[in-house]
Amino acid sequence: MSMEFILINKDAAKFVAHIQLNRPKELNALNAQLMTELRDALQEMDTDDTIHAVVLSGNEKAFAVGADIKEMADKSTIDMYLEDKFSVWDAIRKIKKPIIAAVSGFALGGGCELAMMCDMIVASETAQFGQPEIKIGVMPGAGGTQRLTRAVGKVRAMEMILTGKFISAEEALQAGLINKIVPVELYLEDAVKLAAEIAKMPSIAVRIAKETVLKAFETSLEEGLAFERKNFYLLFSSEDQKEGMKAFIEKRKPEFEGR
Ligand code: CAA
Repeated sequence: MSMEFILINKDAAKFVAHIQLNRPKELNALNAQLMTELRDALQEMDTDDTIHAVVLSGNEKAFAVGADIKEMADKSTIDMYLEDKFSVWDAIRKIKKPIIAAVSGFALGGGCELAMMCDMIVASETAQFGQPEIKIGVMPGAGGTQRLTRAVGKVRAMEMILTGKFISAEEALQAGLINKIVPVELYLEDAVKLAAEIAKMPSIAVRIAKETVLKAFETSLEEGLAFERKNFYLLFSSEDQKEGMKAFIEKRKPEFEGR
């Protein structure tokens, strides 16, 4: 796959792919081409049997500073509607394999929303999160009002979205937005380590568990519990369930097939 704004590095030994946003001069502003390339790369990893988990990063200075303001500035409502730019985001939301965002520097606007669309966030100590769209006359459009509110609660989300001010990695950790803070020289390595740990787990169970956790954002407790129960039963049809439980009883290491 030839990509201009995305770098892909597959570590076959770890079953982990690292996708890097690579538009450094623009601090990884998310223009339409970058987002399309990101969707294509993630979809390819989702069907690649040698990959079980994905790490998504920017660079040390910026994970991503949001949608490309220069690309959007002159658009009309009808341009935005016809371009349907968020359909690419919808496709990314449907990726089945776990994605870990490795965030250093700015994660702003669509950049913060992209990190929140991932399943976990490992941040460097320089990470800053924010939804500054209000300062340019708009508001979050790629899920920020919903995902940030679910992650950090109403009052914090309101403050961030209505003032546009950024929060530090420390504040993000305290608010429950991120998993951990790592020194800047180690954050990527740490995210890959976490991805590799997940990649060792039976991949069919990982995939169904991810789908089931995400259901919690979209349903009542009653329906969510029913969905969980069916998926729990479903995993008893997998070879990995038989192997995992047998290996436990036989006191040996399981050999999972992802089936
Ligand atoms: N879109 C396009 N270009 C951007 C950009 C963006 N979102 N953010 C930064 N850039 C560009 C700058 O224009 C600049 O390019 P030039 O050198 O060609 O002028 C380059 O990246 C470096 O930026 P700065 O010189 O501004 O760097 P800085 O270190 O002084 O400031 C910053 C960094 C605080 C992140 C500042 O660039 C900034 O505030 N950026 C805008 C952030 C923002 O408002 N994001 C929300 C976008 S809207 C959105 O995302 C909607 C949505 O929900 C999907």
